[in-house]
Amino acid sequence: MSVLFQTRKCLFKKPFNNTFCKYVFLRKNSDVPRKFVTFDEIVAQRRLEAQRSLVVQVNSESSFNELYGYCSKYASINDIHHYKNSGGENFMLIEFESEENLKEVLKSCCSHNKDHDLISVQSPFVWFRAAAGKKEKLVANGKNLAVKNGIEIIKEDVLYEELMNCETVSDQIQLLYDRTTLNDLGMRLRYMVARQLEVIFSSLYTNVRVQPFGSTVNGFGRMGCDLDLILTNTLTEEMTAAGRRLVFQEKRCEGGRGGARHMELAGALLELRVPGAARVVRVLNARVPIVKYAHDYTDLHCDLCYNNLSGAYMSELLWQLGELAPRARALAVLVRRWAARAGLTQPHPGRWVTNFPLTLLVLFFLQQSHAHLLPPLNLLVSCAGKEDTRIAEENLKCTFVRDLNKLPPESYGQNDDDLQTLLFKFFEFYSQFDFENKAISINEGRAIRKPNSLPLYIVNPLEQSLNVSRNVSHEECERLRLEVRNAAWHLESCPARSAEGWGALGLLERRAAPQLRRLLRLGTSHRLVSMRDLFREDDEPSVEGVRSKLRTLVKTDTEVETGVKEMKSEMVKEKRSDRMKFKNTQTANEVYRIRRGKIV
Ligand code: GTP
Ligand code: MG
Repeated sequence: MSVLFQTRKCLFKKPFNNTFCKYVFLRKNSDVPRKFVTFDEIVAQRRLEAQRSLVVQVNSESSFNELYGYCSKYASINDIHHYKNSGGENFMLIEFESEENLKEVLKSCCSHNKDHDLISVQSPFVWFRAAAGKKEKLVANGKNLAVKNGIEIIKEDVLYEELMNCETVSDQIQLLYDRTTLNDLGMRLRYMVARQLEVIFSSLYTNVRVQPFGSTVNGFGRMGCDLDLILTNTLTEEMTAAGRRLVFQEKRCEGGRGGARHMELAGALLELRVPGAARVVRVLNARVPIVKYAHDYTDLHCDLCYNNLSGAYMSELLWQLGELAPRARALAVLVRRWAARAGLTQPHPGRWVTNFPLTLLVLFFLQQSHAHLLPPLNLLVSCAGKEDTRIAEENLKCTFVRDLNKLPPESYGQNDDDLQTLLFKFFEFYSQFDFENKAISINEGRAIRKPNSLPLYIVNPLEQSLNVSRNVSHEECERLRLEVRNAAWHLESCPARSAEGWGALGLLERRAAPQLRRLLRLGTSHRLVSMRDLFREDDEPSVEGVRSKLRTLVKTDTEVETGVKEMKSEMVKEKRSDRMKFKNTQTANEVYRIRRGKIV
């Protein structure tokens, strides 16, 4: 498995074991031909890495020499990675050569015994106390930090500047992916947070396993995305061997699917025994009960659930499809971001789409004959062997081929379209999709008849009787349809390179001029008010209308007048662009209708 991380000009492809290093200049898209490794191998590799790692809070980046010198008295160190959390606190993730090494270091840890009310807890999160008495000289023997400030998220204005300077729209899509995707340290920390729970819960659950799933591992995650975790168990062959005659007594517990009561317990443990865990919220009535918490040392928002293995297998499936068509990842990252900017997705759940069904939309599009980048899931199922059998909760069959090398090579990747072309085709495809009558099935790889009248029907690939977008309202589905048409229109009539909002930029920021953008920035959320928020659908965008709407949103008259001027010039530009030509007349007509309806 490789982790891609990038500087501005070049990409380093770094395998976990550092055995080879490939330098790729000016990569055009994210396809890197390689022999496939399995998801389980990658997860196992990451778990091992976490089992020999420790996160140490330090005073600053310059604590490196002292920390290295101190720890290397007890154990051999592979690497030390530095990062800061949003509170400005400094941490170093130390990866030791082996788990035995880490155990030696942990033996040397102590409790901060000044406060007698505290009973300390052993976990892989510790802090580095200043030396007492005479200071010993500790050095790093010429070693350097593997990474400094390693989880800093790129600032929006820097990202936009870089996107502005790209040569092509494909480069923009690739750059967005490379600059925002979850990096190596981000991934290590997520496995450390999982490891922490595993260590703390292990006295209560034999063979406990806490496993990340969702966008952390499915290949579509970005820096800062939430961390979905499953509390489950690993039944090794050793543990279930018939020859072993002394068997642990067990405690059965009511709670049905999702184990709400286990989550109650986990909630209490998180509050009382897990250092760094804060703001614990229990959501126990949901179909899959979860406990949400913030992990302050790593700045992660975590959702912990119990034994929801289908979620993990779903993540594995998405990861596999991303391996077969790496361009899917770059496309999905852009589509997810576009959807957030267009207000189609929200940070909280509701009657709108979420990132998961959006990702399925991208994958489904890439299965279509004109894209021919991905096979239908049914092919992965038919290629599965005995070793691929997986049964999740409630006897759910999650069997599909795990070794992708077994797939016929002609069943995927049969298309050289660049990212720009694929993105345009994606929006065009959904502009014309018959959402009223058809359901999206990545199992079949084609649209099927909708079994009911829910506005958006995306078949759950692992539980085909379910619709993963059952929550989406008619209004939200309609908004999705309008926005894909707007996006297709934008790409079709793309402003010249370097113009305001050219290429992918126009999809990633609100369609407002910079001054108006500043003006409309509301509250602390830093989210922009869209033009659409200024009008009801039946409103005419008269200058008076704009003025009165703006008055309700901003404070001073000067701000209102500046906004009105900006809006007027936007309206003139839009009127001019109404005359633009479309290759596809159906899209053109629809877009014209939408634009006349003042929804843009
Ligand atoms: P972000 O958190 O928004 O970055 O994306 P995500 O892919 O992690 O989505 P989310 O946190 O909402 O869900 C986590 C994972 O749960 C998804 O990746 C899926 O694997 C799984 N999942 C989400 N919704 C459903 C659903 O309706 N049915 C099933 N079976 N699994 C789901
Ligand atoms: Mg998630």
